Amino acid sequence: DLPSHFEGPVHIAVIGGTGLQKIDGYVPIATVNPETPWGYPSAPITILKHGDVPIAFLSRHGASHEYAPHEIPNRANIAALRIIGVRTVIAFSAVGSLQEEVKPRDFVVPDQVIDRTKGVRPSTFFEKGVVGHVGFADPFDEKIAKVVRECGHALAGEGVVMHDKGTIICMEGPQFSTRAESHMYRSWGGTVINMSALPEAKLAREAEMVYQMICMATDYDCWRSTEDVNVEMVIAHMAANSGNAKLLVAAVLDKLSDIEHTDLIQGRHCEGQISGMLKFM
Ligand code: ADE
Repeated sequence: DLPSHFEGPVHIAVIGGTGLQKIDGYVPIATVNPETPWGYPSAPITILKHGDVPIAFLSRHGASHEYAPHEIPNRANIAALRIIGVRTVIAFSAVGSLQEEVKPRDFVVPDQVIDRTKGVRPSTFFEKGVVGHVGFADPFDEKIAKVVRECGHALAGEGVVMHDKGTIICMEGPQFSTRAESHMYRSWGGTVINMSALPEAKLAREAEMVYQMICMATDYDCWRSTEDVNVEMVIAHMAANSGNAKLLVAAVLDKLSDIEHTDLIQGRHCEGQISGMLKFM
């Protein structure tokens, strides 16, 4: 039984997706479950210690995968991380590949996203008199992306294949795409497809956090007309490669812990557009 309180800010968080429900090699020292104006996060947040540096881990789909992508309490998740001091988020996601060269079990460090959620997910902190607009031209963080790429390429010997750039199509789900949609996303320049990048990345930006997603391909969606995506396929590839996913995340955390006190992990500053929200956090 871990303490349910942790003294002091935690600057770095990992949001784990399907197949990455925990990270090994780090000692859990507390679990915290902050209540936010948007309710509780998907699961209690585990605080892990690596050397001197505390890391927060949050399981996006809940402790036992009880939240489907469209049900994830994204605002509570991001607000809860912000409350405990997080300024840098490494978000992990299983994705479908829309490109031949991105094979199942390959990793992608995305630099762009196209929003194909249906506008039904609450996707902003700015409402009810709190007016704000944040830039979102580059939804991810190039400095963190560089760290992730370096770590990925350094693990080539372990079988990690890393693609340095990519555009995520974030769709609503929970149904997978039609074949016509899958072809259309390819024609749009999509590299991979998931259901979880948004609104998570938008909310992190509003909360002045640095946010970088790491994707792992689990299937070729349905454009390739070989074997269409299904849940078993996603879980099987994720499970088969979770060792590499954990190695990669651990390597990134090592690097980020080393540079804990630089501006890299100290968050973004959205030029005064923020925020009524931050006042009560
Ligand atoms: N997550 C993993 N594979 C996916 C796919 N093909 N479409 C949407 N989300 C996914």
